[in-house]
Amino acid sequence: MKRLAFFDTKPYDKAVFEKLNNGRYDIVYFEGKLNARTAAVTRGFDAVCAFVHDTLDKETIDILEAEGIKVAAMRCAGYQNVDLEAAFGRLHVLRVPAYSPYAVAEHAIALLQTLNRKIHKAYIRTRDFNFSLQGLTGIDLHGKTVGVIGTGKIGRCFIAIAKGFGMNVLAYDPFPQELDGVKNVSLDELLSSSDVISLHCPLTKDTNHILDKEAFAKMKKGVFIINTSRGALIESTALLDALNNGTVRGAGLDVYEEEADLFYEDFSNSIIKDDVLSLLVSKPNVIITSHQAFLTEEALNAIAETTFSNLDEFFSSDAESVLTNEICYRCDKEKVAAKCVENRKGRCF
Ligand code: NAI
Repeated sequence: MKRLAFFDTKPYDKAVFEKLNNGRYDIVYFEGKLNARTAAVTRGFDAVCAFVHDTLDKETIDILEAEGIKVAAMRCAGYQNVDLEAAFGRLHVLRVPAYSPYAVAEHAIALLQTLNRKIHKAYIRTRDFNFSLQGLTGIDLHGKTVGVIGTGKIGRCFIAIAKGFGMNVLAYDPFPQELDGVKNVSLDELLSSSDVISLHCPLTKDTNHILDKEAFAKMKKGVFIINTSRGALIESTALLDALNNGTVRGAGLDVYEEEADLFYEDFSNSIIKDDVLSLLVSKPNVIITSHQAFLTEEALNAIAETTFSNLDEFFSSDAESVLTNEICYRCDKEKVAAKCVENRKGRCF
């Protein structure tokens, strides 16, 4: 039986992986994260299974190779935490390209409407029998303009919901799609015309700090910013300035630039040394959730199912067969991984 070293385990991961394993793999669940300091525990294993806050940099990959690990099954879609160039030729990287775009899009809308209608404040007030409405005024979304950056699987689900609210939709994507009722525009036009901006693009060299000081300066006063994609899409200090000067009316953040050592853990008894995060948390018009947009029962099941099918495919096929969800630095350079897969004759290497 193949042995799988499972990193960054949370109880909800273990429950669903145990349910769907059916005795196929001998899984050891490690609570710690995979990185250069922990990679040596993989001795005697056949594969690693990792998530968004594990670090598969060159140093970690060197150790995994020395321990005989040939495959990393990522339980996520994004792979910016994997050094794909270092992995090439040594470590096959498999991922879960989609698990529930609905989960993430619905969470983005939940953040937006919580901020807009101040549900977080109302919840606290009514628990204290304070039934005042002072300060709880929101806006109608109907007739407002939402700018969607990235019209992939999640962006399109978000657009469908926004259209249900009766919003006008602008989109920016370097690979624009013709979508019913959606106007593809330049990034500058989107920034200057939107009442709500929601980020649904991956983190790449091009999108790092796509919302920086200059971008905030182009926005309408009173815009809502929603980020359920990756923290580094937003320059956090520039967001703070834009919140302070009133450009941004509210920010809903499921991700944060420096989240890796914080999110998914309980620091309620600690002093947080990240002052930018502390300032963001302190603002009543900022809602932070800790990278939980994916967290629905359907998505957890889909993650486990695809991870197992990725591993089954890897262990039962030869080098001539394409691995459906493999990603390498060449696929990544193509930007649209599907095109690379279409052209592939077998495994990435
Ligand atoms: P996708 O690959 O289906 O779509 C991404 C879209 O972004 C593509 O249309 C692509 O052309 C576009 N894009 C690429 N570069 C761009 C740029 N410079 N500017 C604007 N658009 C650009 O990906 P999917 O499934 O929609 O996921 C989007 C992102 O959501 C992921 O990359 C990931 O970072 C994030 N995510 C967050 C989760 C969470 O729990 N918070 C869970 C799953 C994904």
